[in-house]
Amino acid sequence: MFDELARAGGEHLDAAYVGAYDRKAGFDADAADEVRLLCGLGLSEHSTLVDLGAGTGTFALAAAAICRRVVAVDISPDMVIATKEKVAALGVSNVECVQAGFLSYEHQGAPADFVYSRNALHHLPDFWKAVALQGIALMLRPGGILRVRDIVFAFDPPEAERFIRDWLSSGSGQPDEGWTRAEFEEHLRNEHSTFNWCSSRCSNGPGSTSSRLTTVLDASTRATSA
Ligand SMILES: C[S@@+](CC[C@H](N)C(=O)[O-])C[C@H]1O[C@@H](n2cnc3c(N)ncnc32)[C@H](O)[C@@H]1O
Repeated sequence: MFDELARAGGEHLDAAYVGAYDRKAGFDADAADEVRLLCGLGLSEHSTLVDLGAGTGTFALAAAAICRRVVAVDISPDMVIATKEKVAALGVSNVECVQAGFLSYEHQGAPADFVYSRNALHHLPDFWKAVALQGIALMLRPGGILRVRDIVFAFDPPEAERFIRDWLSSGSGQPDEGWTRAEFEEHLRNEHSTFNWCSSRCSNGPGSTSSRLTTVLDASTRATSA
């Protein structure tokens, strides 16, 4: 089987990195916009939402202000601890924190109305992405919504050199203020961003016959500018 912990990105397993994560990711922390978008798709006080690869729980906590139940799932023990600390500090009672991966998470209770994932699915190679999507389809209620945002390659292979060069040059100079060139290089070496055209196959993937899977790969997080 695929070892999700070993492939989670070493930095996500490093307590110091996790402690500084919110500042680093802050420039594109748009959880409130994401929650508004999901409200437009039916997110309500009756909803159960599962956030896969939840990181430090920024989106999960924003969604918890609306939802009945939120499950924040992450493979990294330190990310889960960080989310638990925020949940406790805020006195929030409807967020559960689960240390598990896309592949190992076993949903308990009523089927999810929403599954959300941002900037995490690229930790799985494409074959395992498909396995994960099948599992997600099975945890969603009929008509449930999956929203995925991730870093994808939105260019054709012959354009790769130019787009990758531009992407690498756009890295932040300050590791605590954004993702650096070295981190983008690491992403290219060891992580598994897919082409955006592969993702269009997810809209009605295996096991999803009774669930509506909406896959959104947001332009603002793509590896390249179109
Ligand atoms: C770049 S962070 C994104 C966190 C958060 N979703 C955000 O948008 O800020 C990627 C997260 O995915 C988690 N992750 C990596 N591989 C995973 C897997 N197989 N299953 C679940 N989470 C995973 C990492 O531990 C990390 O917290």
